[in-house]
Amino acid sequence: MRLETSGSIGVEQVPSPLELRRLARLEDLPPVSGRRVLVRADLNAPLRETGTGGYEVSDDFRLRACVPTLTWLVERGAHVSVCSHLGRPRGKVDLRYSMTPVRERMATLAPGVEVMENLRFDPGEEANDLEFVRRLVEGFDYYVNDAFGACHRRHASIVGPPLLLPSVAGRLLEREVEALSRLLINPQRPFVAVLGGAKVADKLGLLTSLSQKVDQLFLGGAMCFTFLAALGHDVGASPSEPAFFDEARALLSRYELQLPEDIVALSPDGSFALGKPPSGTVRTFGIDLLPGWRGADIGPATRASFGEVIARAGTVLWNGPMGVFEDPRFGEGTRSVAQAVASSQGFSVVGGGETAAAVHAFHLEQGIDHVSSGGGATLELIEKGDLPGLAALRASVKLALR
Ligand code: 3PG
Repeated sequence: MRLETSGSIGVEQVPSPLELRRLARLEDLPPVSGRRVLVRADLNAPLRETGTGGYEVSDDFRLRACVPTLTWLVERGAHVSVCSHLGRPRGKVDLRYSMTPVRERMATLAPGVEVMENLRFDPGEEANDLEFVRRLVEGFDYYVNDAFGACHRRHASIVGPPLLLPSVAGRLLEREVEALSRLLINPQRPFVAVLGGAKVADKLGLLTSLSQKVDQLFLGGAMCFTFLAALGHDVGASPSEPAFFDEARALLSRYELQLPEDIVALSPDGSFALGKPPSGTVRTFGIDLLPGWRGADIGPATRASFGEVIARAGTVLWNGPMGVFEDPRFGEGTRSVAQAVASSQGFSVVGGGETAAAVHAFHLEQGIDHVSSGGGATLELIEKGDLPGLAALRASVKLALR
């Protein structure tokens, strides 16, 4: 049986940004000593092969992010089990996505906490199946959601347990909602957003919603080529999505979206330095490329104008790299935006995933007010004003803790 959560719990009843912050927290739980607590975390970390046939966690940012919650519970005598998905094994046991490498890392970060096997090995997780939820929560007294990065998924372990157990938000979830709701409640002006990354298809709703909230919205990364091509520019062999040209033109005519004014591109014979030696010629163009050239970063003029506006921002949100930053020939755009965001005097938020990885790679996290552990979740919260995982917790507060 599937959980019928979409009717009563969901983004359909959007809370005010102030209501959004009113989540029950760890302190709202009855005494946890001797109790069994199920923590849902987002331990979906990147893995790399060890060379001996196994895998290890290559960036433990998300693992470290849930440690304060786990420690708080363990120190108060709770028996803690943490569960998460890892990758997309699509409802089947697939050892490439086993939690073993995560478990090994967690053993040093949060000793004494049990790490359960990948939730997505069971089709019930993504199908949001009630029987799966019942099995998951069996024997537990309380549920803590600290999986901000997965709260946009209406999956069993996110929306199910709050219907069956007294449930609260963990420290990370609390911190994320607090920081991100500052973007929704009277943000300091000017509010500047910088969006990069690949797919326009995933970001149309966000672009519309953000355009109405911010004073300036810059587009970079692979996504900008769909907009440039829709305006009739020659984007060479850069990735663009013709299916979205109409939407792109409509957004450009309705809102103040700012596109790059110059592009760093790779010659047709070249390849990116992603696991193989770099090759080809690198050249800076205006916004029209030659046939076969692939745009891979924003150019110096764009970096300067983005940087100037970010420096004066009262609030700045950045999501998505400006180019193929893993190849050092195309890292300058992402680095300069990261530096501008880190040195801005305004309240700065960086949306997770690759953008958080870029901030860590450039060692700039100190200057940023909030580096979110969620990618899709951050964007969906800003776009829709709520997430299924948060709505489920608010409903649980009413059901079980009051
Ligand atoms: C993420 O990496 O953004 C979260 O862990 C969610 O993963 P998913 O996109 O596979 O649901």
